[in-house]
Amino acid sequence: MIKTHPMWNTFPNIQALLLECLELIIEKTTIHNKEIEETVLEMIRNQGKLLRPAYFLLFSRLGQAAKESHNQIISAAASTEVLHLATLIHDDIIDESKMRRGIETVQSKHGKDVAVYTGDLLISVYFELLADATDSVDIIRLNTQSMKRVLMGEINQMTNTYNTAITYADYLKSIKGKTAQLFELSCYEGAYFGQCPPEVIEKSQSIGQNIGIAFQMLDDILDYTQTPEILSKPVLNDVKQGIYTLPLILGIESDEAFLPLLNKKEDLSDSDLTELVSLLHEHECIERARAIAKQYSDKALATIESLPSHPEKKALYVLTESLLTREF
Ligand code: IPE
Ligand code: IPE
Ligand code: MG
Ligand code: MG
Repeated sequence: MIKTHPMWNTFPNIQALLLECLELIIEKTTIHNKEIEETVLEMIRNQGKLLRPAYFLLFSRLGQAAKESHNQIISAAASTEVLHLATLIHDDIIDESKMRRGIETVQSKHGKDVAVYTGDLLISVYFELLADATDSVDIIRLNTQSMKRVLMGEINQMTNTYNTAITYADYLKSIKGKTAQLFELSCYEGAYFGQCPPEVIEKSQSIGQNIGIAFQMLDDILDYTQTPEILSKPVLNDVKQGIYTLPLILGIESDEAFLPLLNKKEDLSDSDLTELVSLLHEHECIERARAIAKQYSDKALATIESLPSHPEKKALYVLTESLLTREF
């Protein structure tokens, strides 16, 4: 029996739809290669948060779509999770990360070849699901554009590795692409496929973007503050990889003492890391980063608030509010 992450127990309507998405993803990733098929299943069984399809579905419920479009809605919602899964697998290859969703990463367990192929399989399934959902070339074009923007965000992050002169603007550019873009797409497509009023469709992208930015900022904060057990993935990873995220950018701006540590690059030892984290705390970089994330989350919440009244609006609001205080 497939289950969702327990966070959905308090949103039973969305949970039921998310389960339909997962069943469909499993059906679509059935191929004549047991190792690759099983790999996708493992990632699905290990309960990701399913936030992208959830935002898709939450938006779609603010619209008037006929019952006949149910299958298309599920396919398109599922496509957002499938693209996300592909990016996670490829991200873990690049980061040489050992843990994802509390289990060994695909690369670590099955090797690089299987990891690359599994990611590629998921990208083909993503387009298949989209094609099942719509005839609209505009939607396909929007998806290809989004995929490109995710990639440009990743590339922008790559060009800034070990860059101690990195600015907040550089960081924002990377996270708008690599993370916020997919949230933006999911919210917009939910509104579009759900046949929402024009005002909801218009506001969906900015809501998604602000949620995505706040979400990635929190992910970057948790990398410094959380344990791998609770986060289900390694911690203190970003700085070791030369990825300087919001807390550290605030730190670099505040104190030159970060520079000799960062100049050690790959040779940063565990005691250097401890020193770096205590410097971050000394300069209240975590709290300051949280305050910045809250600004984006608040912007999203204010725009959600301004949407036409609808019984399903509350769930969208409550979920978005809860993401800012999440621990996982
Ligand atoms: C991880 O995304 C990658 C980021 C954008 C930070 P999630 O935190 O949504 O990952 P899962 O799907 O729950 O595993
Ligand atoms: C990954 O961001 C964003 C993707 C597009 C995959 P991170 O590198 O911060 O994600 P984690 O921390 O490995 O989950
Ligand atoms: Mg990563
Ligand atoms: Mg991260």
